[in-house]
Amino acid sequence: MSAPVPEEVSFFAAVGGEETFRRLVDVFYEGVAQDPLLRPMYPEEDLGPAAERLTLFLMQYWGGPNTYSASRGHPRLRMRHAPFRVGPAERDAWLAHMRVAVDSLGLEPQLHTMLWDYLERAAYFMVNTMDPAHG
Ligand code: HEM
Repeated sequence: MSAPVPEEVSFFAAVGGEETFRRLVDVFYEGVAQDPLLRPMYPEEDLGPAAERLTLFLMQYWGGPNTYSASRGHPRLRMRHAPFRVGPAERDAWLAHMRVAVDSLGLEPQLHTMLWDYLERAAYFMVNTMDPAHG
């Protein structure tokens, strides 16, 4: 019998699966709920459904179940953000809350860096206006 080939472990599994992504997004939305710039951008009074969409998207992106696309279809994130004004200030506020959330996970450095680098790049990519915020 040949030796079993080690299976590549997904990032999703390596960081602890669904529970870790739920913790990440919970901490992130605790910050968003208090944020005077970001909170008014969310159309629904209850942030729960938005938190669920972000959780499922991130789980899928990192190799977990494809539940996000099963319910929402292709992510097309830039298009889905088009109705919202995402300028540098919104991006920086979003990233500040995400930083707290990522740090709270206590991941090993390599995983921490992979997650943070992705989120930072994704946030820069989501910017759709360079106009300074009005009032
Ligand atoms: C750069 C600053 C960002 C701002 C201000 C922002 C804001 C928003 C807002 C207001 C919504 C609508 C809430 C909802 O109904 O779901 C939303 C949705 C969403 N955002 Fe962002 N976002 C940002 C960056 C990102 C990034 C970097 C990602 C991914 C890494 C992301 C992933 C998502 C997802 C998955 C949804 C739900 C899409 C759907 O299925 O409808 N966002 N975002």
